[in-house]
Amino acid sequence: MNAPAGHLPVLAKPVVDLLQVAPGHRVLDCTAGRGGHAELLARAVGPSGQVILMDRDAANLAHATARVAATGTPVHGIHGSFANCERAVAQAACGAGIRPRHGAVDRVLADLGFASNQMDDPARGFSFQHDGPLDMRLDPSQGESAAELLARLPERDLADAIFRFGEDPFARRIARVIVDRRGSVPLRTTGQLASAVVAAYGAKARHSRMHPATRTFMALRILVNDELGALAALLDAVGRGARAAAAAGSAPADDGHARPGEGWLAPGARVALISFHSLEDRMVKHAFAELERQGVARRITRKPVEADESEMRLNPRSRSAKLRVIEVSAEIVTGR
Ligand SMILES: C[S@@+](CC[C@H](N)C(=O)[O-])C[C@H]1O[C@@H](n2cnc3c(N)ncnc32)[C@H](O)[C@@H]1O
Repeated sequence: MNAPAGHLPVLAKPVVDLLQVAPGHRVLDCTAGRGGHAELLARAVGPSGQVILMDRDAANLAHATARVAATGTPVHGIHGSFANCERAVAQAACGAGIRPRHGAVDRVLADLGFASNQMDDPARGFSFQHDGPLDMRLDPSQGESAAELLARLPERDLADAIFRFGEDPFARRIARVIVDRRGSVPLRTTGQLASAVVAAYGAKARHSRMHPATRTFMALRILVNDELGALAALLDAVGRGARAAAAAGSAPADDGHARPGEGWLAPGARVALISFHSLEDRMVKHAFAELERQGVARRITRKPVEADESEMRLNPRSRSAKLRVIEVSAEIVTGR
């Protein structure tokens, strides 16, 4: 069966079930994309709730915001990286006339990576399937493009990135060919990069199950957008939010002192993260386990939730998806 056109939200049912979204909740979708998850969340929180959307891609943010608005649920879209989610939540609270300390969110979702429309647009330069400018920025208005990075990175750094983020065993050879070729002609298109990778693979290209450029393109996308840096910042923010929420719940209410600073996550908030790369999943796994160890959160999923066969058939991108969910404690729990 052919996959229907458009971006399908991955693991949609487990996300909604495990987040236990209820009417009136304030929800932050860190990666609005085409608004698939956001619309489901908006319908669950209803008109008494609020959906805050973030995306680095202004066009996707606008599309998702319109989709949520059509449900009748109040929506606030913020263009930017979820690395700045704490500021975004405070800004959305102000926009809705909510005092920031009462503006904590009840549910958070981040569905990492890129959306199908970004991959399918040759002008964005994410794919070797179409020839186009070698850009790869999720936010094309900021930062260095892939072509600019390829023009200036030392061979060793290029090889390290292709090996670390792409796990390509030919990383050193690929970096060598890129550096050789850029010495005579700058690599400006996806076709030029794909051809350099195929040349580095040599005869092995014929036996490779996937296109030889798959891993190099993934590695460059992660590098161009500092995707692991953004995830680390989000996980740090979740940690701060969880500690603040649990500390607020643990402080005596009537001791005459102000309660500890209430953060951006409400006590009992649930946070769901969907990752597509083993390095990302490892970061999420360790961060969530550490918060549980600190007694400020409880893991709702001990093992990651993955797509079933029927979803994988319908949406091949779901094959590598891993969903992990935690719940922020309402007070610090000792003895776990
Ligand atoms: C997998 S898609 C999300 C799809 C969405 N859940 C849906 O159902 O349509 C990922 C989206 O996250 C955005 N994105 C990736 N990294 C981001 C970051 N650090 N901050 C904000 N948005 C990001 C991408 O631009 C893309 O639109």
